[in-house]
Amino acid sequence: MEVIKNKKTLQDFIERQKEMGKKIGFAPTMGALHKGHLSLYEEARKDNDLVVSSVFVNPTQFNNPEDLEKYPRDINRDILILKNSGLVDAVYIPEVADIYPEKTESQHYDFDGLENEMEGKSRPGHFDGVGTVVEELFRQVQPDNAYFGEKDFQQLAIIKKMVEKKHLPVKITGVSIYRAENGLALSSRNQRLHEDRKETAKIIYQTLVKVNDWFRVVTIPEIKERVTDIFDQQQGMKLEYFLIADEETLKETDFFYKDRNYRAFIVVVVDGVRLIDNMHLD
Ligand code: PAJ
Repeated sequence: MEVIKNKKTLQDFIERQKEMGKKIGFAPTMGALHKGHLSLYEEARKDNDLVVSSVFVNPTQFNNPEDLEKYPRDINRDILILKNSGLVDAVYIPEVADIYPEKTESQHYDFDGLENEMEGKSRPGHFDGVGTVVEELFRQVQPDNAYFGEKDFQQLAIIKKMVEKKHLPVKITGVSIYRAENGLALSSRNQRLHEDRKETAKIIYQTLVKVNDWFRVVTIPEIKERVTDIFDQQQGMKLEYFLIADEETLKETDFFYKDRNYRAFIVVVVDGVRLIDNMHLD
C-alpha cells in the first residue's frame, strides 16, 4: 500500500494510474478507522481497479473547537489497519495546506435546502466544510467512483447533490451502516465511550427497530412520544433529536404519504459523546 503524504506525490501517482487506464474508487475519512470504514473499501474493491483512502481531520467541518481538538487521531494505527485489511492500494494523508493553500475556510454551497435540515440545524456551517473538503479531494484524487456511508445519511445526500449540481465526473455509492454485534452503529466517536456505555447505547438501535415496527401503524406524534419516553428513562443519555423524514427531501414529516420513502433519524448524547444513527422504514 502506498502512503502518500502530500499533494504533489498524489498528483504523480494518480497521473500514472490514469495513464494505465485504471478505474479509481475512493472513500475519504477522518481517521480513527474501524470496520465501518473498511466496509466502504470492500464495496469499492468490487467495481474498481484501484482503491484509494484518505485520512484528514477537516478543521472547517467542526463547529466546535473542543470537538475538533478531541477528535481521536492515531495515524500509524490507521495506516496499519488499512494495510492489514488488504483492501486499499493507496492512502492519501494531506497536510492542511494541501487542501487549503490559502485560508482554512469553507466555500458556501447551496444544496437545495438539504443543508438546512437535521444536522444542518444542530451544526451550522458543517456541510459547507464537508462540501469544501470533499470537492477538493475529488479534484485531487479524480475518482471514477466514491463511497459514503449511510450512517451519515444527510452527508451522503449532500455529496450526491453537489456532484449533480457541479457536474463532477464521479459516481457516488451509499454503503449501508456497519453495526457492532449489539446493533450500535460503529463510529470513531465510540472510542470515547466506556465499554459498559457501548452496551447501554445499543438502546439507540433497538429504538429504531421499534420505530420500524410502528411504521404506518402508529401516528408519528405518538411514535415521537414513545421515543422521548424511552430516552427519559435512560441515565446519562440525552435525546438531542428524533424525527422521521422523507428520504429524498430530508424534510421532517408528521404524516406518512403513500409512495414516499421514509427514514428515522436520531441523535443521542451519551456521556458527552454525540452519537448519530438512522434507519430506512419499511
Ligand atoms: P468519517 O466520520 O471518518 O467517515 C468516513 C466515511 O465512513 C463516511 O462516508 C461515513 O459515513 C462512513 N462511515 C462511518 N461509520 C460507518 C459505519 N458504521 N457504517 C458505514 N459507513 C460508515 O464522514 C466523514 O468522516 C467526513 O465528513 C468526510 C466525508 C471524510 C469529510 O471530511
